[in-house]
This record gives sequence, C-alpha cells and structure tokens, in this order.
Amino acid sequence: MLDLISFSFQTNFNFEIVSFSNIFGAIEFFESEAEFSLVVIDYKIGKQVFSNMLKGVVDSKNEVPVFALGAPKKAIESMDNSDLVQAIINKENLLENLSSEVQKFFVEDTSEKPKEFCEVKFSVLTVFEGIESDVYIQLISGRYLKIFSEGDDVREDDVKRYAKKGVHSLYLKKAICNWLLKSINKNIEKVVNAIESNEDIKISPEPPRPTATSSLGESEDLDKKIEDVFLFDKQMEREVNEKIKKTMSCIRKVPTLAKFLKKVDVNRNKDNYYKVHVNLLCKILTALCHLLEWRQSSTIEKLIFVAYMHDISLAGYPHLAKLQTKDDLNSISDEISDEERAMFLRHPEEISELVKKMSEAPVDADIIILQHHERSDGSGFPFGHKSSRLLPMSALFIISHDLVNYILKTPKWSMPEFVEQSRENYSGANFNKIMRKISELKI
Ligand SMILES: [Fe+2]
Ligand SMILES: [Fe+2]
Repeated sequence: MLDLISFSFQTNFNFEIVSFSNIFGAIEFFESEAEFSLVVIDYKIGKQVFSNMLKGVVDSKNEVPVFALGAPKKAIESMDNSDLVQAIINKENLLENLSSEVQKFFVEDTSEKPKEFCEVKFSVLTVFEGIESDVYIQLISGRYLKIFSEGDDVREDDVKRYAKKGVHSLYLKKAICNWLLKSINKNIEKVVNAIESNEDIKISPEPPRPTATSSLGESEDLDKKIEDVFLFDKQMEREVNEKIKKTMSCIRKVPTLAKFLKKVDVNRNKDNYYKVHVNLLCKILTALCHLLEWRQSSTIEKLIFVAYMHDISLAGYPHLAKLQTKDDLNSISDEISDEERAMFLRHPEEISELVKKMSEAPVDADIIILQHHERSDGSGFPFGHKSSRLLPMSALFIISHDLVNYILKTPKWSMPEFVEQSRENYSGANFNKIMRKISELKI
C-alpha cells in the first residue's frame, strides 16, 4: 500500500516521500526535527497507534495537514488532536480521492519543470504484465541509466538480482507512469483488496501505450518568461535577493514572526502556494516598480517586506492563503472550519498590528498589509474602502497579487490577456494609472 501510494504521489506530484511500515520509524522521524508538508496515515494500524501518530505530528511542531485512510469519522472525532485530520480518504477510490484532497492544499509550481522520470518500486512494477517499457535506475550522480529496453520482459528474478545489489527503486518515463496509474485506478478496488488480504495481483495495462516522447508535456520556464515579459534582469534579481535578506533579518528579530517564518521554511515543498506566490510577488512587484519608475530603493524594499509579511499568519494554511476575495472564501465555506474562516478574515488586521510594533518595519508597510484584500470598487475587506481611500502602493500590491494568481493558474499566460480580463476589476486614478502602464507590456 505504501509503495502504491508513493507511486501515485510521485506520478501526480513532485513530492519527496518518506514512508514507514511501523510506528517506531515514524515517531523517530517526527522526533528528528525533519520538516514535512503532509502526513498520510492508514487507519489500519489501529486506533491507538493512529492516535499516537497524531501526537507525534503535534510534538514535531510541523503544523501540516494529516489525511486518514479508511478511518471511521466517529473514531477520529473522539481522538485527541483530531483537528489535525483534514481529510478522511475512502479506500474505494483511494488514489483518486487522495490526489483530489492533495490538490486542495497544494498548488502546482509552474516555474518547476515536470519531472522526466518517476520512481516506481519493484512491488508496483511487478503487478503489471507486459509493460514493454524502458526501465531506468538512478545513479549516485543523479543520471538515469537504462537497464531494460522496451522489448525486455521485466521478470521476478531480475528484480531480485537488482534488489540484492541494493537497488529498490526503478524509474520510468513520466508518461508511462501516468498510463500505469490509470490502469491501477481502473482496477483500484481489486488492487486494494489484494494488498489488504496479502494476495498477488496481475494487471495488464490498457493500450494504447504512450510514446516516450510525450513524457515531458508542455512545460514553460516561468523564470525565463518573467525575464522576457517584464525585462527582469540580473540586476533586478540581485535587488530582490538583497531586499529579501534584509526583510528576513528584520522578521527574525520578532519572536512571534520568527515562528511563522519557521512555518514558511518548513514548507520547502515546491508545490506550496504560500512560498510560490510570495516569491513570484517579490519579482513582479520589483519589475512593476521599475516599469512605473518608482525605483527608489526604499519603495522596493517596502513592497518586498509587504510581500513577505502580508499573509504570514496563513503560512501553515496554503488553502487559505490562496483565497483572494470574499467570494472565494464563500465558495469553499463547506470545506473550512469557522475558525479558519475567522482567521482568514482577520489576517490583514492581525498582521498589520504586528508590523506596527516592529521598529524596523518600512513606513506604511502596515497600511498596505491592512489594505491588501480591499478592492477598488469597495467589495473587499476588512473595511470595504474604495480606490480613493487606498494608497497608490496598495493599488500596486493588489494588482500584482491578482497578476500572480492569474499567472499561477494560467499555463499560457500573457500580459495582454491579463489586462483584457481584469481591466473592469479596477477603477479609480490609482489603479488606472498602473493598469495603463501594464498595458504597455506586449508579451
Ligand atoms: Fe497573498
Ligand atoms: Fe492575504
């Protein structure tokens, strides 16, 4: 089951996976100060052990979602720390349910190229009959070496031979993994039942087999595109990095904030919306400041400070950080708790108050943070202020944040399309001035 879930995660996402088949290994891992972004626990380990695992997660101080596989809701609710369990995954449609829950908590980082190879354990590979695919192992150097060619039959004794040499993982081209995963999902009940009752199972993957060339898919190099679209050069890159450094050292001096920062650092996972959107925001704000000729160092420093701080209390809640408007919030009201809703609605004021107390915070940073969810037509929060009551830099921040969300959601994004789609969302002199400049960007 572990191998199967790992295979699904690695095929659909880019997670690094650590798995344990007993509680001792897991507890040791939790105690090791390791950082992680998601925990999946099979309820089959028993209620008590499950509950001990939750305690382990709490003690590890990583505030991350926990998914429970095949757990009765009541049993979970009666446990200590049950609020950690963000999803109960029904085993009937195991892998697909798991993937759709994961998508609620993480977003794709489009700056990251899709992997060319995915890891597959022998136990998963030998489930298939007649795969006819090239099979690779990964060398210490990171390079992939082909050990079986398409025509070869991967047999049990070959597998054992490699296992003896310490090779437990094989790699397949990503398109092949997607194809195998599809076949597993079609037979998922059979597969899960066989695993749970310790029986062998064989599946023939359904034709047509994809060609290896389709494995990379359409990838866009976000960094390269940002350079082209915004003329974001090395000089600006250095500027951004230097300001981020300064902001970080400022934040680290405040214990309440350092705690949040640790959460951001913990979220090393490249799929984490929080980190992805903050980093992109820093670049776009800097590029737009140059475009608007707001080039003073103190202006850029202020905006980068705001980019790092604006959602900091939501660092452990990427699914909340992702929300922009009250409508976004209402659209997921069934999926979040009242507490999460309140936390989201109060974050602009809460963070603004924290910033006010920071002696080194740039002037007006607290105001921009307070206004970052306002909208020019007055539909935002916390105050519903219209454009005329918002600072010009708040207007720039709001537009840039919308732009970041548009870019992250749109694989083939372009500035003319953004301007076209969002023009009517903005009104008032502050916003119009910025949009006029942005519409000069032609790519
Ligand atoms: Fe944000
Ligand atoms: Fe926010």
